[in-house]
Amino acid sequence: MRTQVGIVGAGPAGLMLSHLLHLRGIDSVVIDLRSREDIEETIKAGVLEQSTIDLMDQTGVGDRMHRDGFLHHGINLAFAGEMHRINMYELTGGRAVMVYAQHEVLKDLIARRLADGGDLRFGITDTTVDELTGDRPKIRFRHDGKQEVLECDFVAGCDGSRTYSRYLIPEGEVRTDFFRQYPFAWFGILAEAPPSSDELIYAHSERGFALISTRSPNVQRMYFQCDPDTDPDDWSEEQIWDEIKTRVAGAGATIKTGSIFQKAILQFRSFVCEPMQYGRLYLAGDAAHTVPPTGAKGMNLAMADVHVLDRALGAYYDAKDTGLLEDYTSTVLRRVWRAQHFSWWMTSMLHRFSDATEFDVRRQIAELDMVTGSISASRTLAENYVGLPLS
Ligand code: DHB
Repeated sequence: MRTQVGIVGAGPAGLMLSHLLHLRGIDSVVIDLRSREDIEETIKAGVLEQSTIDLMDQTGVGDRMHRDGFLHHGINLAFAGEMHRINMYELTGGRAVMVYAQHEVLKDLIARRLADGGDLRFGITDTTVDELTGDRPKIRFRHDGKQEVLECDFVAGCDGSRTYSRYLIPEGEVRTDFFRQYPFAWFGILAEAPPSSDELIYAHSERGFALISTRSPNVQRMYFQCDPDTDPDDWSEEQIWDEIKTRVAGAGATIKTGSIFQKAILQFRSFVCEPMQYGRLYLAGDAAHTVPPTGAKGMNLAMADVHVLDRALGAYYDAKDTGLLEDYTSTVLRRVWRAQHFSWWMTSMLHRFSDATEFDVRRQIAELDMVTGSISASRTLAENYVGLPLS
């Protein structure tokens, strides 16, 4: 088998890359260990930055997002017994976010790739990649019991945080990893309930962070900070609702409860590997970087990476110009580190650290006061939350 770009991983990065390349007439094959059902059903975050909304729209995959998603012009910060709204739309000159689940984005991309005749292979095993430093790298894998060899011009490593492709970049002599683990996690739930708020609530409280988000008029998504070792089955529905209510009640929010049908613990890590390329391999999305969930930057960064990679590959195939490919790492890393800082900042401002003193808590409140009280500080948060333009 032969293709121009072999894409390892059918998540947001891999599928969007394949879609973008197709629109410029570049061939790709996407492979993934998981089944299509797994990919389409795994629950992840659900906030699309303005530039992700635009990318979906401009490439013809935004219809369902506009029909089923919710455009939000603001977010609320709850702390010290009060609710403060950040009007992102006004502060950024008309930018907003869309609340639309990541797995719905994946369904849209898969449907579109298949309608366009795309080659997507799910449930593959035994992947290996070699000859990356030559000009015909090969991806070997098993699919439907058959051993396949896919010869490509380039390999895109889009295989998420459990990546295989990152480790193809030799550690030490070429690759450096930057890592931070946080001493807490999020307990995430999906519940059949009406919305508790028109816009998201990020809450700072004595008992730790809580986040009120949504999925539809009947399904709500909420999170609260917990110990990383928490077993979700140790928590009854009643305990979960009590915990969420306690964390937002002081600021006046009323939580509408219902039946909880999904519970999961989300770990908190910040990670970046540099460089994000090696020979003919280019990493995109979580394979190269992970952010803690506060601010929901993960999928958006993946989309931003492949936007750059698509243009770089376009310049190569149009004019044999390798300049953008050579600059890929330095171009994308600026946005990656901006998002790392933003996610870390939101996390550190809103969460309760186990070694926090009263000094630290008062300092957090002062920071939140500044972020909600000063136009320039609110704008800094708003600009980063709705995301920077793509180019
Ligand atoms: C959601 C997740 C986030 O991490 C966040 O900051 C906002 C919303 C969500 O899943 O809805």
